[in-house]
Amino acid sequence: MRSIPQVLRHVLCGLLASALSLAPAFAQNPITIEFKGVDQSVKTLSLKDLGAITPAVSLKVFEAHENAERIYRAFPARPVLDKVFGEEWRKAQEIAFTSIDGYQPSVPVAKFLAHDAYLAFAHENGAPFTMTNTLQNNEIVPLGPLYLIWDNINSKELLESGASDMPYQIKRVEVKSVAPFPNMAPPANASVEVQRGFTHFRKHCMACHTINGEGGGKAPELNYPVSVVEYIKPEYLKRWIENPQTIRHNTTMPGLARGIPNREKVAEELILYLKVMSIAKRAPAGSSASGMPQSGTR
Ligand code: HEC
Repeated sequence: MRSIPQVLRHVLCGLLASALSLAPAFAQNPITIEFKGVDQSVKTLSLKDLGAITPAVSLKVFEAHENAERIYRAFPARPVLDKVFGEEWRKAQEIAFTSIDGYQPSVPVAKFLAHDAYLAFAHENGAPFTMTNTLQNNEIVPLGPLYLIWDNINSKELLESGASDMPYQIKRVEVKSVAPFPNMAPPANASVEVQRGFTHFRKHCMACHTINGEGGGKAPELNYPVSVVEYIKPEYLKRWIENPQTIRHNTTMPGLARGIPNREKVAEELILYLKVMSIAKRAPAGSSASGMPQSGTR
């Protein structure tokens, strides 16, 4: 997933660290971040530009990647987004981030409205802006130019969601008014849990499965015309997701990876998403409702 060779990463990390150690931290950092709005306009801003929009603060968070508390220097995300995109972004669907190494996670706008996100650019103690990712073989990863963090210390919900929605090395931020997969996306008013379930689905399932015809073609459709939630008992559905081999001896479906933080909750949110989709069926593109093969007609 993250494919930049280790050596290059360390060079990058050194560069970022030395740029960021200048005082004040971002005064001369030439690195810029691209912001693309729903109207396709692009603004390119440096850390200094961001500092002119809203003052940086020190924020203590529980750093799920390191399983420890850390204090970051960071800009509150909402004022930055309001200023860069205008309040319109609040009505959009998702904010898509692009990291230096090409990783492209996207986070529902609803989460930015429900919780306080921050764009971190340095450690408060001036240490190189890196971390030891205990979730990825203790790899030392550079975090800059920007790292998305959440004010999670007092939020049970955020603490439980672990390291999800915390992309680092952010070099591009794009507001998306339309969810990238219109037939697979839950309705816009769906709960934050359901939206997270959708994110999990895109991350862990859609490479193989389709929902309403959108997704990968390696495995069966899960929603149309009959949803798996309609004929698989909830406890078995959870077992399918966590341990498919305990249901089908020779299935090729892999269980949800063991290392995923809050694995159980991820499975539950996936099921909440599948439930909502079962009442949001849409015929897959190119299918005709009456075109289902009937058994015994050959
Ligand atoms: C590597 C491909 C792959 C991935 C990834 C995958 N599946 Fe599957 N899944 C399959 C295949 C193939 C089957 C068909 C049954 C079989 O071969 O055992 C299946 C079957 C299922 C079934 C049973 C469908 C039925 O009608 O009996 C459910 C439910 C399911 N998958 C859900 C999921 C969910 C949810 C995820 C994500 C957490 C997921 N799958 C990820 C390949 C995959």
